[in-house]
Amino acid sequence: MRSLLVGFTLAVMCIPAPTLAAQKVELSIDASKTGAKIDRNIFGQFAEHLGHGIYEGIWVGSDSKIPNTRGIRNDVVGALKAIKVPNVRWPGGCFADEYHWRKSIGPQRSVTLNPNWGGVTEANTFGTHEFMDFIDQIGAEAYISVNVGSGTPQEASEWLEYMTAAAPTTLVKERAANGHPTPYKVALLGIGNESWDCGGNMTPDYYVSQMKIYSRFVRNFNPAQQDKQQMLKIAVGPGGDGPRWTDWTETVMKAYQQHTWSWDINGLSMHNYTVVHWPPSYTSVGFGETEYSQILKSTLEMDGLISKHSAIMDKYDPDKKVALIVDEWGGWYAPLPGSNPGFLVQQNSLRDAILAALNLNIFARHADRVRGANIAQMINVLQAMIITDKAKMVLTPTYYVFKMYVPFQDATFIPVTFDAGRYTHGDVALPRVDAIAAKDTNGKLWLEITNLDPNEPVEIEAGLAGITAKSASGETLTAPKVDSVNTFDAANTVVPKPISATVQAGKLTLKLEPKSVTVVSVER
Ligand code: AHR
Repeated sequence: MRSLLVGFTLAVMCIPAPTLAAQKVELSIDASKTGAKIDRNIFGQFAEHLGHGIYEGIWVGSDSKIPNTRGIRNDVVGALKAIKVPNVRWPGGCFADEYHWRKSIGPQRSVTLNPNWGGVTEANTFGTHEFMDFIDQIGAEAYISVNVGSGTPQEASEWLEYMTAAAPTTLVKERAANGHPTPYKVALLGIGNESWDCGGNMTPDYYVSQMKIYSRFVRNFNPAQQDKQQMLKIAVGPGGDGPRWTDWTETVMKAYQQHTWSWDINGLSMHNYTVVHWPPSYTSVGFGETEYSQILKSTLEMDGLISKHSAIMDKYDPDKKVALIVDEWGGWYAPLPGSNPGFLVQQNSLRDAILAALNLNIFARHADRVRGANIAQMINVLQAMIITDKAKMVLTPTYYVFKMYVPFQDATFIPVTFDAGRYTHGDVALPRVDAIAAKDTNGKLWLEITNLDPNEPVEIEAGLAGITAKSASGETLTAPKVDSVNTFDAANTVVPKPISATVQAGKLTLKLEPKSVTVVSVER
């Protein structure tokens, strides 16, 4: 359908050509041909107790001079509301498998350690109630990862009873005494995190035996979640594409195929960072076209990885009942000089905006199987939406991509056919453009087009069938350099701007700036 590998011409290869006329790319969209729903959960976020992700990023405490509501900073809540975060995965990450929920409820909090991330102390002032208050303030749902590595099924099942039960048990009375008489909703439950590594170094078979026990006993008692809105249980899945990872997916999915009435899973997690090689050495700012093109090449490997694991899942689950949930993804670069290396602090550039758009488009094209994803991580850690420093806050280029993609949440995928052309730099060859289309819940047609080429504009001519189009309008995100960033002093270097588009005789035309992400809607 998409011929990404064609359209390669010698002229494009040999001439740097900033002075050449814009390249032309033709797209063909038939709005009457629809695909799967793009689950809004692919726009999920991940917030781990890591560096300043939670403390300072979300939680400042009610005594803080930073404006807050019950300790949760108002500026961050306002920004996150605008991108309609569907769910937040918490408390980890590796942290989750060393987290003991009782230490962070009630008036007396235990101070513990965070050995995974910088070896700092964990005040536990942000616990279950504070997390639930936070997601309520931003309008998101809870994706709770329970501790399989160093916890017990009893600890996890009691946590779920504490959070979700309505009957007057001792735990429910304790929750009420701590300020929340009504049950919390838990939409998603992660049964461990990276159990093949930081989550306990388990073999696939050992993990499956644990997963069955947790699936059986870690129940959601919320009366509103018994028939509709049932909690989805997500098993640990692969973290790469070699035999180690395909074996893992095989083992979990084979067990799923043979599951009995007493246990079930609804999702398989997958983690895939864009890192090129470990330890992460690419810098997050101060790089050029070589690193830009290499990182984008690496990020496009997400597509093959999803296809590989989806094919295994198809063998055991042809009806696609089990979702693939890419609950950790994003660019992972070298820590910023002077930062605590355990805090995973990095800048966020225009390159990250393009990386995010490419991944979101991959998820959308796999919408029949990929029904959830969580970018790592929401604030101050890795590929963040938001960076804070005490009272200051800045929104990143990635944040603006998530904002531009809001109309794609729960929209219906519409296939786009195009010859992507080719952008080359050194020995890296990439598709010049990428694109997806979808019809939103009100029936409006939306189109996203990314121009990966950092040097040349692209003229888009999109044939629109199955719709009588009258006009189109939208926004584009670009900046002077591939490593342009927003800072506290210059917060508007990478922000979306309006773009003009023309519709005539069933054809949409618009010109894309080099290295840009563009979203347009079509009026009928
Ligand atoms: O996101 C940082 C870490 O990356 C997570 O804690 C872990 O799950 C993964 O290895």
